[in-house]
Amino acid sequence: MQYVKVAKVGDFEQTHVRSYRLLARPVGVFKEPDGSFYAMEVGCKHENADLTQGRIEGNMVTCPWHGWQYDLKSGECLRGTTARLRRHGLKIEGEDIFVTLRPLPENGPESDGGAW
Ligand code: FES
Repeated sequence: MQYVKVAKVGDFEQTHVRSYRLLARPVGVFKEPDGSFYAMEVGCKHENADLTQGRIEGNMVTCPWHGWQYDLKSGECLRGTTARLRRHGLKIEGEDIFVTLRPLPENGPESDGGAW
């Protein structure tokens, strides 16, 4: 899997979520209360709105455009569709945060499914 550097750990001192555009799609990086990080697709499955711009309550987000709702941790769509948000791989080297260019395949993080 190809990783790209998107941020530094210090970028999350004042916030717990930021989004970045990878291959024209928004990808969110989330900082957990314990200091760990994960990355998730945040392009709404309806019309690709950036979900990090929506209302976030706990793990749930409401899309800012038409109100579909997702669990940002599991990727499950709670209202709107059966499609899920997919995880991206994330690794930290020193202060740098890297995420995979493409979402992880559903069947495991090490194989490159190739499909969106
Ligand atoms: S773009 Fe998210 S609900 Fe329409």
